[in-house]
Amino acid sequence: MVSTHSSSYWDDIHQDKGHDVSWWQDENALWMDLVEETGIASGSVVDIGAGTSIFLAAMARRGFGPLYANDISASALSELKKQMTEVDADTYFFPVSVTELELPEQVEIWHDRAVFHFLTDSADHAAYHRALLKNTYAGSAVIIATFSPNGPETCSGLPVQRWSPEDLEAFLGDQFASLAKHTRLHTTPWGATQEFTIVIAKRK
Ligand SMILES: C[S@@+](CC[C@H](N)C(=O)[O-])C[C@H]1O[C@@H](n2cnc3c(N)ncnc32)[C@H](O)[C@@H]1O
Repeated sequence: MVSTHSSSYWDDIHQDKGHDVSWWQDENALWMDLVEETGIASGSVVDIGAGTSIFLAAMARRGFGPLYANDISASALSELKKQMTEVDADTYFFPVSVTELELPEQVEIWHDRAVFHFLTDSADHAAYHRALLKNTYAGSAVIIATFSPNGPETCSGLPVQRWSPEDLEAFLGDQFASLAKHTRLHTTPWGATQEFTIVIAKRK
């Protein structure tokens, strides 16, 4: 089985498909309301598994920064770097698995859309949690959006783990206080829908 930690696997997907991918969101489809729900209006942000998403550019336009883009695919990040020249914000790129992420500072907002569900074993869950704790501090907000129990069973040829809001909150554990949870449909560029579970939490 292909591992989600294979950077070349994801490089190929990004190089072959560009923005023509099921998870793509245009500017008007971005879930910026989730950021508003954190109550945080400025400061540093990491986008986990950012791909070539325009999320960080949208955050820059709202005055957030510095911005940190993580992805296991260096190809995706080099494309994202070109896109980010259009906005005026300090942006730094970290081409490693989220499970090994070590940012130069702890950030105000940790944002993960459609990445955590690719981690399907407990060792990876533990490593993700360690990375989350290492790169945030008391008061930081966490936004995690994964496939819900009604969402797809695979994505990009990889198995995924689907999460209910309660299980996602339990994963975050006692160090986090849940602020909001949602079940939300994403409409793919070709009109299909995918159900997501979203949890927004604050680190205690
Ligand atoms: C479904 S896409 C979502 C991209 C972006 N977050 C969005 O919402 O448009 C998943 C992304 O996660 C990246 N990825 C997969 N496994 C990863 C890992 N272990 N660590 C960091 N990024 C990963 C992929 O290269 C891809 O860009």
